[in-house]
Amino acid sequence: MQTLSVNLGDRSYPIHIGPGLLLRPDLVLPHLIQKRVVVVTNTTVAPLYLAKLSLALELADIQVDSVVLPDGEAYKNWETLNSIFNALLTQRAERKTTLIALGGGVVGDLTGFAAACYQRGMPFIQVPTTLLAQVDSSVGGKTGINHPLGKNMVGAFYQPQLVLADTDTLATLPDRELSAGLAEVIKYGLIRDLPFLEWLEANMEKLVARDTEALMYAIYRSCQNKAEVVAADEHESGQRALLNLGHTFGHAIETGMGYGVWLHGEAVSAGTMLAADLSRRMGMITLADVDRVKTLFQRAGLPVIAPDLGYDAYMNYMGVDKKVEAGRIRFVLLRKLGEAYISGDYDAVALRATLTML
Ligand code: NAD
Ligand code: GLY
Repeated sequence: MQTLSVNLGDRSYPIHIGPGLLLRPDLVLPHLIQKRVVVVTNTTVAPLYLAKLSLALELADIQVDSVVLPDGEAYKNWETLNSIFNALLTQRAERKTTLIALGGGVVGDLTGFAAACYQRGMPFIQVPTTLLAQVDSSVGGKTGINHPLGKNMVGAFYQPQLVLADTDTLATLPDRELSAGLAEVIKYGLIRDLPFLEWLEANMEKLVARDTEALMYAIYRSCQNKAEVVAADEHESGQRALLNLGHTFGHAIETGMGYGVWLHGEAVSAGTMLAADLSRRMGMITLADVDRVKTLFQRAGLPVIAPDLGYDAYMNYMGVDKKVEAGRIRFVLLRKLGEAYISGDYDAVALRATLTML
């Protein structure tokens, strides 16, 4: 097992990464105020891992209740959030009970938001079971739900007590979901870690083949990058926005296509290609750089061509983005590979060209 820390003063918490962690209640116990948890998961993950985790916790004398949600991005909404509150109230969960999110980013974002709201805040723990959740969504305390008009538009910053990333759970993850997670891994290399980008170029086939050592390294290095950024800018007043490379376009793809049609990681991949194209048109990176990024996403099994929603639809969806300031869309762009920046000062003609080449 490897351990990192998200350093946020008295709200700091560990990220444990490694095999067999679902069977380690000793790692959970120090973070409980009450020997009672409610595990929130979904209909896909429950049959795979709920009994295993629950039994291990119960053997450590922890009372375990559970809530099983429907599976899918389309359910990351008010109705599902309210079903968590219904279950918590029915089960008489208390403010000192801990919620555990067992699943991917959808379960994690919903559970974290429920924890932030229930009785004005209860503790929660992230047990991510997708690659995307292990490298990104479980760390950093962004929680929330989608609105029909905009992705992740309702939520709260609310940090977990602990992240427990059991790498054994990745064995059951479908290939398409593994690839989606790799989009966020590549993101860290592109925005701030050129040596990692080069490592990914040298090791992508190993990652796709689920080589244990390579996956462990990629998860660790991704979490290290994320933890550093979050510790420096928890509430995204500056550099945390760089973690949104490809997401302004990507969220438009997810909303425009209908939640769940494109996986989040797929939308980030195609969205990053649009951000790379815009960066090139604005004279910052070369065509060779763009091709290099494209090749890496393709080797990860990801789409590199965004759907043609039309210029107006893209602009409309991107106008509903948390980075918008004074009505102006702000994009994360590449100054060079390994270095991103955010700006509202983009070239409108170049942007139109990027969106109309589709
Ligand atoms: P997801 O939660 O929908 O999980 C993907 C699929 O894999 C689901 O069908 C799920 O049931 C299934 N699954 C989960 N674990 C499994 C396992 N071990 N074996 C087999 N199947 C398994 O999707 P995701 O990619 O994990 O997360 C995407 C979500 O995360 C999006 O809503 C996105 O907005 C959000 N996100 C949040 C942050 C953040 O900082 N909070 C960061 C990135 C993404
Ligand atoms: N996934 C982007 C962030 O956590 O800021």
